[in-house]
Amino acid sequence: MTDARQGLSGLLDTEAIRKDFPLLDRTVHDGKKIVYLDSAATSQKPRQVLDALNTYYERHNANVHRGVYTVAEEATALYEGARDKVAAFINAPSRDEVIFTKNASESLNLVANMLGWADEPYRVDRETEIVTTEMEHHSNIVPWQLLAQRTGAKLKWFGITDDGRLDLSNIDEIITEKTKIVSFTLVSNILGTVNPVERIIRRAQQVGALVCIDASQAAPHMVLDVQALQADFVAFTGHKMVGPTGIGVLWGRQELLEDLPPFLGGGEMIETVSMHSSTYAPAPHKFEAGTPPIAQAVGLGAAVDYLSAIGMEKIHQHEKAITEYAVQRLLEVPDLRIIGPATAEDRGAAISFTLGDIHPHDVGQVLDEQGIAVRVGHHCARPVCLRYGIPATTRASFYLYSTPAEVDALVDGLEHVRNFFG
Ligand code: ALA
Repeated sequence: MTDARQGLSGLLDTEAIRKDFPLLDRTVHDGKKIVYLDSAATSQKPRQVLDALNTYYERHNANVHRGVYTVAEEATALYEGARDKVAAFINAPSRDEVIFTKNASESLNLVANMLGWADEPYRVDRETEIVTTEMEHHSNIVPWQLLAQRTGAKLKWFGITDDGRLDLSNIDEIITEKTKIVSFTLVSNILGTVNPVERIIRRAQQVGALVCIDASQAAPHMVLDVQALQADFVAFTGHKMVGPTGIGVLWGRQELLEDLPPFLGGGEMIETVSMHSSTYAPAPHKFEAGTPPIAQAVGLGAAVDYLSAIGMEKIHQHEKAITEYAVQRLLEVPDLRIIGPATAEDRGAAISFTLGDIHPHDVGQVLDEQGIAVRVGHHCARPVCLRYGIPATTRASFYLYSTPAEVDALVDGLEHVRNFFG
């Protein structure tokens, strides 16, 4: 047993945790036990979350904020109760700062559109600049490109170093007095890099720019404290943190949410409506037009309960140890090149790699035949692949239910891939 593997014992009771996740028990390809290494794409769901969804639909299903009858009041209490749980999970100063969306992409698009329609001092126009990075998921690039095209603002970005870190050597030239918003990921979904938030925020604050953080790959894996982060907006999604699909979160500072205009119009986001004009409800409802994803929010509340009961710090330590073990074992595989930090320091539990000149799609297919589920492709972060001159990567990603035995299975599987392709 190597040191890193030894370090894992006792951090989390993965055996007990795995019993909560029915899918982890299934087999594929004639009885091969599934080795699920694609939690960065979406996590598996524990019974506690599945039960919360079922109970909601079986016992409490009604529209929220509308009915005066018992079941409708129960549905509203469950939906708003989920908001309380999420607010506590991220240490939000106020529950009214938690907006439910469909996913992190919608949360990021919401910020871009708020700013696109805003008046001074938030207004983005041809005199101003938007800053992002080359290591973003497409969902934190395209909304800013759209905003830049619509307003004439200039889009700028930080590049990536050879070892998969943000290149901040030109931070004062990238973030300037013209910058209105700096939007970047806390943890890269493709490289696994954990970015130096404080340094970027400090510079943004110097020039009075807003900061938006994509925490999609952070919220499931580490303590996320929006007050400690000191950003203006934080976006993440439920389905990567053992919650259901169809529910995302945008946290925003209260005074900003009060000042900024809504993006989507419709029911429930208004105060009054006449044929000439409307006034809007206070945040968060101002940003939640129409019937919201009620069951999904309730499911996210159950997910937050589940993660909190185990403890985010424990989950983080477990993942750190498993990532260290995985990095160490993967580097033993001949011809394997890690794309991103080849260390467990300041990195999350997603590890991308190439294997000689075997195409990642072939790697993924041969692994699948052995029951091993990984993601292959550009991972919705194509600029990263362009940066490294590769068409795609294979990515293995780990979570609270991942075990060292699964890392070993991956390494054995890759040996099999190498033999298969000669
Ligand atoms: N954003 C998800 C991923 O990285 C889908 O795989």
